[in-house]
Amino acid sequence: MPIKQQGYKTSASFAAEIDAHDSLKKFREMFYIPKQSNGEDAIYLTGNSLGLQPKSTGDYIEQELKDWETLGVEGHFKAKNPWMSYHEFLTEQMANVVGAKPIETVVMNSLTVNLHLLFVSFYRPTKERYKIVIEAGAFPSDQYAVQSQIKFHGFDVENSLIELTPRENEFVLRTEDIERTIFENGDSIALVLLGGVNYYTGQKFDFERIVKAGHKAGAIVGFDLAHAAGNVELKLHDWNADFAAWCSYKYLNSGPGGIAGVFVHERHSESFDLPRFAGWWGHDKETRFLMDKRFIPMRGAEGWQLSNPPIFQLAALKASLDIFEEAGMKRLTEKSRKLTGYLEFLLTEIRDERISVITPSAETERGCQLSIRVKNSDKNLFKAITNKSVIADWREPDVIRVAPVPLYNSFADVYRFAEILRACL
Ligand SMILES: Cc1ncc(COP(=O)(O)O)c(C=O)c1O
Repeated sequence: MPIKQQGYKTSASFAAEIDAHDSLKKFREMFYIPKQSNGEDAIYLTGNSLGLQPKSTGDYIEQELKDWETLGVEGHFKAKNPWMSYHEFLTEQMANVVGAKPIETVVMNSLTVNLHLLFVSFYRPTKERYKIVIEAGAFPSDQYAVQSQIKFHGFDVENSLIELTPRENEFVLRTEDIERTIFENGDSIALVLLGGVNYYTGQKFDFERIVKAGHKAGAIVGFDLAHAAGNVELKLHDWNADFAAWCSYKYLNSGPGGIAGVFVHERHSESFDLPRFAGWWGHDKETRFLMDKRFIPMRGAEGWQLSNPPIFQLAALKASLDIFEEAGMKRLTEKSRKLTGYLEFLLTEIRDERISVITPSAETERGCQLSIRVKNSDKNLFKAITNKSVIADWREPDVIRVAPVPLYNSFADVYRFAEILRACL
């Protein structure tokens, strides 16, 4: 809905009133909010970079420390949450967050590592079909990963990478341009890899159309969901993506460097002929401890695991996924649309040509993040709001990213941020 029709108002009392009626307001209390020096809550708008700590995380980790203390190695089977199967306790909740089936989902490793493991299976370049389509503005780690894969397979990066760029004087990609690029390079494309939500612009892509275009061209389609998982509603299974990977320390609040997630579509669940790097945790769990040296992969995403997982990290992620389950992605994204809509409204009301929002205005084309472009790349504005206890981030060359997160941000946070920004301008 256009922002004018939402009935938003530029007053502290309006923000307070929506907060008072917010059915998700209790969730803010479940998180530690960083404080200003005067003891008041800081305005934390960087859940897109590092999600806040659930107050329950300590207890979840403490439980495992206690079981390790009292049981030693027997904790693998006798812990309250036996470590042997701990990762399985997270599978269904994680699958629900990304719209996948449990067989399609596993938590393991970290994001860039997982992308490489998935490329081993899903980037199989041939002389004719070897190119990778990626956003020119993809997160650098993805750029490094695909470039190194291309070189690893003996191809030349310049000829093998197709980078999607927005049209002149535009900041985000048009779906029809992505489709056209895929169509025009059809036979030569091995892999399309896009971010679900771009880290810089906050643009959410049309997954379904991109998957369709990629598959029509005979390519594999995968997504980096670092900025999408826990932020927007996803239907990875229905959209028919081949694979996806995401981190959990942003919207999924698992803590710095937390354990990551992987999706492999069900139709690949028994593709045992796919090349893959193997480790014992990906081996059939029924026979894992027979210590046979012949590798028999598990069905589904679990078959891509290598090592036994870090239990403390799983515990931290579990604390947050339990909160997600209670709140529900549907309710969260409903609030998110209103909260970010309110932020957009207030930014528009500032009416200052030194700032502009480059994130799409359409609700279907973004998550909670808005990227504010600052004229002349003036970082002083960012420094000024930081001095006033706004925790946002600056991304070179000229963007302040702000992400009101529906689990713990309030309309009052958004209002206070806009007032500080106005004053600093
Ligand atoms: C879109 C995107 N891809 C990849 C990464 C790299 O993540 P990691 O260091 O967990 O591999 C990040 C990190 O912020 C990211 O935002």
